Amino acid sequence: MSAANQNKETIPAHGGTLINRIATEAQKQAFLDKADSLPRVEIDDRTLSDLVLIAIGGFSPLTGFMEEADYNSVVVDMRLTNGLPWSVPITLSVTEEVAESLKEGDLVRLDDSTGRFVGVLELTQKYKYDKLKEALHVYRTNEEKHPGVAVVYQQGNVNLAGPAWLLQRDPHSLFPNYQIDPAETRELFVEKGWKSVVGFQTRNPIHRAHEYIQKCALETVDGLFLHPLVGATKSDDIPADVRMRCYEIMLDRYFPRDRVMMAINPAAMRYAGPREAIFHALVRKNYGCTHFIVGRDHAGVGDYYGTYDAQHIFDEFEPSELGIVPMKFEHAFYCTRTQSMATSKTSPSTAEERIHLSGTKVREMLRRGQLPPPEFSRPEVATELAKAMHKD
Ligand code: ADX
Repeated sequence: MSAANQNKETIPAHGGTLINRIATEAQKQAFLDKADSLPRVEIDDRTLSDLVLIAIGGFSPLTGFMEEADYNSVVVDMRLTNGLPWSVPITLSVTEEVAESLKEGDLVRLDDSTGRFVGVLELTQKYKYDKLKEALHVYRTNEEKHPGVAVVYQQGNVNLAGPAWLLQRDPHSLFPNYQIDPAETRELFVEKGWKSVVGFQTRNPIHRAHEYIQKCALETVDGLFLHPLVGATKSDDIPADVRMRCYEIMLDRYFPRDRVMMAINPAAMRYAGPREAIFHALVRKNYGCTHFIVGRDHAGVGDYYGTYDAQHIFDEFEPSELGIVPMKFEHAFYCTRTQSMATSKTSPSTAEERIHLSGTKVREMLRRGQLPPPEFSRPEVATELAKAMHKD
């Protein structure tokens, strides 16, 4: 066995096998030939993101949308029925009216919001589900103003389940150079000789605390895998294209290029805090990461979650069943006394000596035409954000 293959085996996908549900040319042709005779369901951008992730293996071991037993087990126990950890439901919801027009056993044609035939679902089950229960377990709140809960409340009352295939990717992807699928990232990590790789999830423009924890992590592993989420986010988050430009600027200037790789994560944001941290880690394991960064209030929103809840939840699993190591970081800030980035673990500073800004605060500053200070954001990134803010 070659060294490369040995290394590949050291990072198995979740459940042991990297799933591939991208229709082959022959399957695609067969589906296209039947296209007009199949019942049709339109899926929104979030569901399309999930379909893409199922197909490319990002959601291994899932091969489709969850059946009722898996759904309930995931919602309540954070496990699939086979016992594997899985913390957020992956579902395709439709109205009762649409569900009634379909029968179990159907092949269902999935169209995106522009009417493109993007996938096929082999409908094995349709079931009603309890939205309140999903909200309380997964999001730890029933409040509609939580953006993840709002999505659950607004979606249809019936989940369609079964194996799925992806027929085509987004032809207008804004980030063709960064559309790197798990099978490929795994190969690339091997090629680079990276035996340990830390994944970084993000939905915000890169700031110095991000850079600090990324580099602290990189001090102890072979490679850093930057994996910004570019699927649906809440309306006041900074758009993905702006965030990607900021990362490109940072990579050109502030990172060792041979130790860092960047790819897009096509997922939609759920804002489920702790539950989403587990989910984010498992997805990065499928991309081939051995480690995953979990900082302050990971995937949180408002004050729904405690600052370190997304770290504590990892203690509810055996490390071996997750198969990816969380690298936990405390709240990082710029310390004016030591004149460096730090956390309370490494700095003796008082609160007045710590510079940290919330995303909301930074957006307000940019709107007023002010640039965030260099202690918070690299100046090149601040300028790029200001430019994007005043574009229209
Ligand atoms: S998230 O929704 O994707 O978690 P964000 O892009 O802001 O939001 O965060 C990316 C990662 O950096 C998360 O693991 C988060 O916990 C961490 N993080 C963000 N800001 C800080 C900070 N000031 N100190 C420590 N960790 C942070």
